Amino acid sequence: MKFKKKILCIGAGYVGAPSMVMIACKCPDYKVTVVDINHQRIDAWNSDQLPVYEPGLDEIVQKTRGQNLFFSTDIENQIKENDIIFVCVNTPTKTFGAGAGMAADLQYWEKTARQILENSQSSKIVIEKSTLPIKTALAMERILASGKGDITFDVLSNPEFMAEGTAIDDLENPDRVLIGSRETKSGLKARSQLVDIYARWVSPEKIITANIWSAELSKLVANAFLAQRVSSINSISALCEKADADISEVARAVGMDSRIGSKFLKAGIGFGGSCFKKDILNLVYLCHFYGLPEVADYWENVVKINEYQQDRFIANILQSMFNTLAGKKICLLGFAFKADTGDTRESPAIHITRKLLAEHAEVVISDPKALGNAAIDLAQDGGQISYVEDPYRAVAGCHALAIMTDWDLYRRLDYRKIYKSMIKPAFIFDGRNIIDQQKCFEIGFNVFPIGKPALSRL
Ligand SMILES: NC(=O)c1ccc[n+]([C@@H]2O[C@H](COP(=O)([O-])OP(=O)(O)OC[C@H]3O[C@@H](n4cnc5c(N)ncnc54)[C@H](O)[C@@H]3O)[C@@H](O)[C@H]2O)c1
Repeated sequence: MKFKKKILCIGAGYVGAPSMVMIACKCPDYKVTVVDINHQRIDAWNSDQLPVYEPGLDEIVQKTRGQNLFFSTDIENQIKENDIIFVCVNTPTKTFGAGAGMAADLQYWEKTARQILENSQSSKIVIEKSTLPIKTALAMERILASGKGDITFDVLSNPEFMAEGTAIDDLENPDRVLIGSRETKSGLKARSQLVDIYARWVSPEKIITANIWSAELSKLVANAFLAQRVSSINSISALCEKADADISEVARAVGMDSRIGSKFLKAGIGFGGSCFKKDILNLVYLCHFYGLPEVADYWENVVKINEYQQDRFIANILQSMFNTLAGKKICLLGFAFKADTGDTRESPAIHITRKLLAEHAEVVISDPKALGNAAIDLAQDGGQISYVEDPYRAVAGCHALAIMTDWDLYRRLDYRKIYKSMIKPAFIFDGRNIIDQQKCFEIGFNVFPIGKPALSRL
């Protein structure tokens, strides 16, 4: 079959692959190829066990793979063959040298830019889909312009706003698609090519264009604002616990103000995931770089409150369980950083597990999708850890259970049955405020919610 356009994505991770799966699904006349240096990952994308769990993803992959969607490790040849290249490699926080612990590590990004330059035999549109510090496109342009010959490259910024757990729905019905470009003749032409792709399924008023620096910065700012809401409500949850207010009632009353809105106002054990912390720290680093220390401090506090919330949660467990956890068995229900994903990157459960192990507790971890990743995360940690998928088997014989992830499954468990199988007095630490806390108290549990008075007999 002759395809109308050929699109390549470099980076087959949580974002690159699902975004391309959606393009392949909506544009059957385009050939979409996703490449990665990680052979195992590509093998998994070509198998029945996809490397990423997302509701609805399997079905679309089944429909498109082998038709107009392909996964490959042949990066060099694919660069030669495709003229529209998305780059969606990882951009983690730097762990060494200048900016360590804060700046984005752009080594994967730069390697890709050089690889594109080395293997291109025709002009290309290169699209930043990774989340990047402002002005990365300039560095990319400089690398790409360093080649000889008359091949030209237009760099666009098209940050991805999808959220894990709802990726397919977000990609199919995005709030907006943002495309940043240079405002030159060729920049605008490249931009219109990318607009045409999204226009296949996204309505025109939702496809917004901007200058390239605004587009790069908007993604960092969107994540910073989302994380800030989580830290704002979590900071108030601490006050509620001291002052006998109920955070759910406060959030409801505040969120009904249409200027504020009700989303992202759920108190819990803090945000996780690969993006929020890294993107805020990246923003903080940029503010310092541009000589704005007050702005940097403002945003850094969002991360500090997130850490404070997790430490508070552990301190509460310790204090409620008579100031000793040594030898006690504690079950963590959920390990993924949020529901409907198997992703555990920066999950609060990692930090909480380590703190429990430091107190010499025995930790039982349960999760419907994330046990494989949990075992990898904790592989180097000493202490007693076990992994049990079935939540009833996981909690049996435990002194306490702590809800880490807002999986719907945990709302519907038979807590009477669970209570019977646990050591008494039995404790629930509801880190997501998702269970019927009053009912669990009546069953016999001592219940410790977030941001509400404890329901305890002790
Ligand atoms: N995860 C999210 O929810 C999310 C949402 C929006 C944006 N983002 C951003 O998207 C980017 C990718 O995130 P992710 O979660 O998909 O990361 P990921 O780690 O899951 O995937 C990145 C992939 O890039 C591959 N890679 C690295 N260098 C490569 C190279 N030189 N050539 C080919 N492949 C290479 C890696 O092997 C990996 O499979 C990041 O910048 C992230 O900030 C993530």
